Amino acid sequence: MNIIHSIEEMKAEIHEFRKKGKSIGCVPTMGSLHEGHLSLVRQSLQTTDRTVVTIFINPAQFAPGEDFEQYPRDYDRDIGLLEREGVDIVFLPDMKDIYPPGYKTYVEVHDLQERLCGLSRPTFFRGVCTIVLKLFNIITPDRAFFGQKDAQQAIILQRMVRDLNLDILIEVLPIVRDADGLALSSRNAYLKDNERKAALTLSRSLRLAEKMIAEGERSAEKIREEMIALIQSVQGTRIDYIEIVDSEELLPLETLKSRVLVSLAVFIGRTRLIDNTQIILS
Ligand code: PAJ
Repeated sequence: MNIIHSIEEMKAEIHEFRKKGKSIGCVPTMGSLHEGHLSLVRQSLQTTDRTVVTIFINPAQFAPGEDFEQYPRDYDRDIGLLEREGVDIVFLPDMKDIYPPGYKTYVEVHDLQERLCGLSRPTFFRGVCTIVLKLFNIITPDRAFFGQKDAQQAIILQRMVRDLNLDILIEVLPIVRDADGLALSSRNAYLKDNERKAALTLSRSLRLAEKMIAEGERSAEKIREEMIALIQSVQGTRIDYIEIVDSEELLPLETLKSRVLVSLAVFIGRTRLIDNTQIILS
């Protein structure tokens, strides 16, 4: 496995792959890897000739006061995990090369970036789109792999790729969960034991929504009310948002129909966790 820091060296490797006619898969991450990340890596290994995993904790997607400094970093462990999977290249660019002094260019996907998580994190998706487009320009992948865990992120990146005519197939893979239902997240490392228990309320409220929908409930308000009541019954939780939206424009639905995204962000103590479920109704 090749560990590359320099952008120029990365581009040179890509050039070599292209000369040999190899297809390229890219898995962008911020490291602190878990089985969710590895599910994307395995899909890339299976569906493309060469897999590049990027690890870069992107300051542009953290607002002042958020957890950029505390975000877990364990590059040695990450590299070991990726080596074991059989990844071809780990790309670990330096901050000063990605955002050199005088850096001025940002990518925005209007409207979509303002909804759901965008309400409490107004510059988040601009930061995500900017780094992902930069990585795409450096790596020129045929396919890139993202998790449904960050449903809004995946929807926005798909729109960016479409709007900017990039020839990259975005694959979105299912949420990987712990046995008790908690969606894997690098931020779960922040949770104390009692918080870890309280955090189960996110997936439980989504299972409740799924059950109500399976039993025929189509009123978004009724479903939201029950989810809110369930979450508020657990000490130490604070709802950031619970929204039931269409999974293309991310606009609130009154009556559930076609492709529905039930998405939520909840603070468990000081840790903000997200989770979601997507339901297709005929
Ligand atoms: P990060 O949080 O490290 O996640 C990297 C990828 O792993 C994302 O596509 C995310 O949706 C996916 N992922 C995280 N948890 C998952 C889970 N439990 N199951 C399945 N997939 C999961 O998302 C980012 O980094 C950044 O915003 C990034 C796209 C790298 C841009 O900086």
